[in-house]
Amino acid sequence: MIKIAPSILSADFCNLERDIQRVSSADWLHVDVMDGMFVPNLTIGPPVVQSIRARTEMFLDVHLMVEKPVRLVDAFARAGADLLTVHLEADMPPAIHAALAEMDRLGVKKGIALRPITAAEAVIPYLCEAQADLILVMTVEPGFGGQPFLAGQLPKIQAVRRYIQRYRPECRLEVDGGIHPATARQAAEAGADVLVAGSAVYSAPDPAAAIAALRG
Ligand code: DX5
Ligand code: ZN
Repeated sequence: MIKIAPSILSADFCNLERDIQRVSSADWLHVDVMDGMFVPNLTIGPPVVQSIRARTEMFLDVHLMVEKPVRLVDAFARAGADLLTVHLEADMPPAIHAALAEMDRLGVKKGIALRPITAAEAVIPYLCEAQADLILVMTVEPGFGGQPFLAGQLPKIQAVRRYIQRYRPECRLEVDGGIHPATARQAAEAGADVLVAGSAVYSAPDPAAAIAALRG
């Protein structure tokens, strides 16, 4: 069963509670955290996640686009994240493994994200040794909403799906960037089971209908 995770990056931050309620028919809420270093944009920190946690029961899928994410795992876990996803490019492998171990200690689910340039094979140690709960394949360069889907990532989604089936079948495969109904179908056919969508949901006149359309 496909899960839909609207990204509040495309919400109106002055009306965040209203915009979270507008997507309550979705499965997860995707929160894009950017530090102005790993990506050029700067967005949300732990106090905002804590305020969101107080106003919704939705599963909080927090995507950390930050350098050296091990520094921030504790703060976002305590703020109420259910799942923390770190980029494997954001630090040296031992430090990324340390970030995942910290998530285990704090009882949050753990995800690993790949920029478009990163090869599928890079996920293998995180599936086998770190026992990741989710792999996130980016289908745009991280940093901004509203970019076109990079169809060249579809073979990588298929390859990551094969590694998941081989090494850790319970792991979820999330795709993020440029998802609208047509690309949602392509990503799902390639093996994705969680789809993030920002602009496709929030630029629609009826976000609930947009979520239903993404389910296909
Ligand atoms: C981009 C973020 C995405 C973004 C997706 O760096 O990780 O989650 O919100 O936005 P759309 O769906 O508009 O591509
Ligand atoms: Zn994201």
